[in-house]
Amino acid sequence: MTTPGAAEAAATPAANLLTVRPATAADDAFVDDLQAIAFGPGRFARTAFRVRERFPIDTSLSLIAEVDGVSCGSVWMTPISVGGMKGYLLGPLATHPNFRKRGAGKLLAREVSKRALARGEGHFVLLVGDQDYYCPLGWEITTPGAIQFPGPVDTSRVLLMAEDKSLAKSLTGPIAAFEAGR
Ligand SMILES: CC(C)(COP(=O)(O)OP(=O)(O)OC[C@H]1O[C@@H](n2cnc3c(N)ncnc32)[C@H](O)[C@@H]1OP(=O)(O)O)[C@@H](O)C(=O)NCCC(=O)NCCS
Repeated sequence: MTTPGAAEAAATPAANLLTVRPATAADDAFVDDLQAIAFGPGRFARTAFRVRERFPIDTSLSLIAEVDGVSCGSVWMTPISVGGMKGYLLGPLATHPNFRKRGAGKLLAREVSKRALARGEGHFVLLVGDQDYYCPLGWEITTPGAIQFPGPVDTSRVLLMAEDKSLAKSLTGPIAAFEAGR
């Protein structure tokens, strides 16, 4: 009887290895199902959905999270502008119920924002979400009503992340096309 050596132990995959990769067309069915599970039939009535109807998502910024190589989460980004400034609307962000509380959601939010802003074109990442979840990740509360959505929105959930820390309070205007900004 021998005990496993270091080489054998190293060959054993790490448990719960969390990774992120770009989404492909092969992920479409998984993402559709996941969004239906996470948001239900009411998802099409959400104001953020109306933004995505007007302005297409950038599929090159769609990411999938995996646990040990199994798809478990998804995030999308929509290029937009507000008040003549280019940025992105993050969402939907969803993790499959079987894989929650392992860090996938926060990893996806952080990673997609980093990749989008690293392009050097957009200056902020806007979203509609819970302060308790997003503010510890760097999102900040905006001035209520300053950023105008194409439908009703709970203004306390309109959050913004930007390198310029004054932007969350100063950005104002309707959500418009990415191309309308600079
Ligand atoms: C929100 C969601 C994406 C989080 O995914 P996740 O992979 O479990 O997130 P993480 O593992 O990175 O973070 C989990 C932590 O955030 C907390 N959390 C989850 N949702 C939260 C919320 N709405 N507000 C505050 N905290 C929240 C969890 O309790 C957990 O806390 P813990 O680490 O102290 O246990 C997932 O629950 C989900 O898909 N929900 C349904 C869709 C949704 O609401 N999307 C967000 C829209 S803005």
